[in-house]
Amino acid sequence: MSGFDKDWLTLREPVDLRARDENLMAVAMETVAKARHPVILDIGCGTGSTFRALSSLLQKPAAWRLLDNDPRLLEEAMRLHGDAIETIQGDLNDIDSLPLSSATLVTASALFDLCSQDFIKRFAEKIAQADIGLYAALNYDGAMHWSKFHPLDEVVTANFNAHQLSDKGFGPALGPEAWKSLAAALEGQGYAVKTAESRWIMTSNDAELQTLFLNGIVRAVLEYGELDEAEIRDWSEFRHRMIERDDSLCRVGHQDVLALR
Ligand SMILES: C[S@@+](CC[C@H](N)C(=O)[O-])C[C@H]1O[C@@H](n2cnc3c(N)ncnc32)[C@H](O)[C@@H]1O
Repeated sequence: MSGFDKDWLTLREPVDLRARDENLMAVAMETVAKARHPVILDIGCGTGSTFRALSSLLQKPAAWRLLDNDPRLLEEAMRLHGDAIETIQGDLNDIDSLPLSSATLVTASALFDLCSQDFIKRFAEKIAQADIGLYAALNYDGAMHWSKFHPLDEVVTANFNAHQLSDKGFGPALGPEAWKSLAAALEGQGYAVKTAESRWIMTSNDAELQTLFLNGIVRAVLEYGELDEAEIRDWSEFRHRMIERDDSLCRVGHQDVLALR
């Protein structure tokens, strides 16, 4: 199991949806609609966030295959969507077993920043051999900004980004650099690649998500171990106080990638 919490995925979904680049989604779905029998394979599907974001934009019905290695998340996807989807439990590292046959497009969200250079290279080669496009949304790009400044913001962000490079099950993760490597690997395989910003903008209405996100940053930075614990606590207390303020914003950079032949 991957350890991604269903409640965390649920909480981030509305912010993800606001952030996704609309033009890339529209182009991806136009491409799918050109196929006679469209089949979409969503990898690292979680509970089906990408299915929910894209299916209403489709101009004709498509078969959806949702793949993840976490049976609890797949169970939740089935509970939510039943016959509208097929779920597949599998490990993405086993690239040769990816169910690509007759697929029109591979989709993913919040996945590739967990992946290594080696995985991205092998994945790009695999979908190119099968001549299938990719829509990969919401890849964290390393930028975190708060409207209320704290002197430790920059160093906390740098430590968090360094922590993102640890192994998330695919070998050493590329973290914030992953979207660029993905785009380059796909261009190298002859794809026309478009990228677009899909920045989270969180206000006091997203207080619960902001709180969990902040707790995650603090955990990672403490684990990374380069900053003084008292300083991190001080930064965290300041940030927790700001979350409730109506005029306080938190922006987290993400990038969407669309690669088509
Ligand atoms: C950040 S979550 C994103 C989930 C979903 N796409 C979304 O946007 O809500 C990453 C997903 O990748 C899945 N995952 C991680 N490693 C995997 C692997 N080796 N094989 C298959 N799925 C994996 C996790 O279980 C999780 O559902």
